[in-house]
Amino acid sequence: MAVPVTAALAAHRAGSLGLGLSGGGFIIPFMLGVIQMLYVELGVMKYSMPVAGASTGSICASVASGLVPVQQMCDTIARTSNKCRDKGNCFGVLQAVVQAAANELLALDAAEQANRMRNLYVAVTYPSPLGLEPAEVKLISQFSNRSDLIGAIDSSTYIPYWSGPLLTTKYRGADVYDGSMGGNGAGFLPCPPNLNYCVRVSTMPAGVPLNTLLLNLMATPEDRGFTLGIAANTVAGSDVGGILSGVAAARVAVAPETAVAGPGRLAQLTKALMSLTTPGEGDADIWPGRRHPLPVSDYHWMEWMVTPPNDSERKVMFDLGRAEALSWAQEVGFPEAAGKSVAADGGQKQGGAAAATSVSMSG
Ligand SMILES: *[C@@H]1O[C@H](CO)[C@@H](O)[C@H](O)[C@H]1NC(C)=O
Ligand SMILES: *[C@@H]1O[C@H](CO)[C@@H](O)[C@H](O)[C@H]1NC(C)=O
Repeated sequence: MAVPVTAALAAHRAGSLGLGLSGGGFIIPFMLGVIQMLYVELGVMKYSMPVAGASTGSICASVASGLVPVQQMCDTIARTSNKCRDKGNCFGVLQAVVQAAANELLALDAAEQANRMRNLYVAVTYPSPLGLEPAEVKLISQFSNRSDLIGAIDSSTYIPYWSGPLLTTKYRGADVYDGSMGGNGAGFLPCPPNLNYCVRVSTMPAGVPLNTLLLNLMATPEDRGFTLGIAANTVAGSDVGGILSGVAAARVAVAPETAVAGPGRLAQLTKALMSLTTPGEGDADIWPGRRHPLPVSDYHWMEWMVTPPNDSERKVMFDLGRAEALSWAQEVGFPEAAGKSVAADGGQKQGGAAAATSVSMSG
């Protein structure tokens, strides 16, 4: 019986399938749900396949590349999210998630393993020296040692002015920032090179302009209202560049060394972010709301990027990730996915996806 072979299925058969993971802050459980379905429950993807990740996608890439088990990552995310919720102040906590995940979870030989497997690509954004050119996203795939690997993931998740007082952090001596802030396409959702097919996973509903949200994210708590005002003005078409150079000038007081490069780089970053629209059909393969309804409004979902969800909300995200991944695998034609359905318990019931290990999203 002739069955049409989709590009993804053909790539799988040719041994040239890989994974691309966008950023998404605390929406991370959605991505872990996708990985749980494709790698653990269905087994249509293997830890040996190449994976690229930007920002929190790079944390999940450490899972999809086989360096960290899904359950361990879920536990760490749950613990850190809850700690942050309890404190009622989540400022900077995303960075703590990264530190905790990297330091606690990566094996001593994680860098050697990644180098040997050649399956882990961490996206890091490099602004041009004076900010005259658009910033460039590079994929780091060979690591000198464990701290170099942790440094790459740390840099990939460095949100300007939010993760620290500066626009950039240092990686291998260069100024860099978040790997998902390089603009539309691969600047938001990277893929490993030289693949026949890359399964692109986005944590965001499709076709949403990110400008307001990301500007909000960049602001410190004290001037978040101010930044929201900037975004509102942007919608009204006023001079964003002018206002942002004002912000940059204010930052110079905090960190004088940014005086020369800061405003130009900030302008490039702002330009990339203001034009960013979340990927949908044709630009991504799996995202929340593609085949299954979102549990909340688009905006509420995207707010979870900066506001850690509670136990039940994380479970909802995780299960939506599993459901979207299963629907994709079925549409692409993986025989392993045929006739399966997602059981609501993170594992499976009768007729559910085979060979699942139950994963808990509670802290
Ligand atoms: C890891 O590699 C970097 C170079 O990329 C080097 O600067 C650093 O000293 C090394 N750290 C250890 C612990 O070997
Ligand atoms: C999580 O938050 C939602 C919405 O605010 C609420 O309905 C739910 O009861 C909360 N769940 C837990 C476990 O706190």
